[in-house]
Amino acid sequence: MMAQNGKGISRRTLIGYGWIGAAAIVVGELIGGTLALLWPKVRKEKAKKLLVAGKIDEFKVGQVVLFRKEKVFINRTEEGLLALSAICPHLRCVVRWTEPKNAFECPCHGGVFNDLGEVVSGPPPRPLDIYEVKVAGNKVVVDTSKAIQRKEFRRSQLILV
Ligand code: FES
Repeated sequence: MMAQNGKGISRRTLIGYGWIGAAAIVVGELIGGTLALLWPKVRKEKAKKLLVAGKIDEFKVGQVVLFRKEKVFINRTEEGLLALSAICPHLRCVVRWTEPKNAFECPCHGGVFNDLGEVVSGPPPRPLDIYEVKVAGNKVVVDTSKAIQRKEFRRSQLILV
């Protein structure tokens, strides 16, 4: 690529620049990779959203309590506590607790769940999601930041109280 006046860049010089550029990219990748290994990764955890639901003795056995703002039900069974999402896993309508039927009912397409959130009838593809629940001191605390999907109810999902 010689200019007509003889002062342009020669092909050899141009190839040399190409090699320098390629070497610079490789060195940059090596330095970047090394730094990435040396610096600890900062894991961005989703901040926990804690619902302090009340004192444990305020939840009576057989009672299902709705926390409307958080769309969470707390069911105290004979064996323990279960925190259930009020969001229907079909198309995300809010279910309601119907005490005489001992069931959660979805107003949108007729999905029905038992008191443990398992599907009894209708289109929902899985049980109601649950949330992690703990008893801290004598307070019931629900982590509403992450709904946990499940295929069925298991006793291990209960917090024994
Ligand atoms: S959204 Fe609940 S059954 Fe369809």
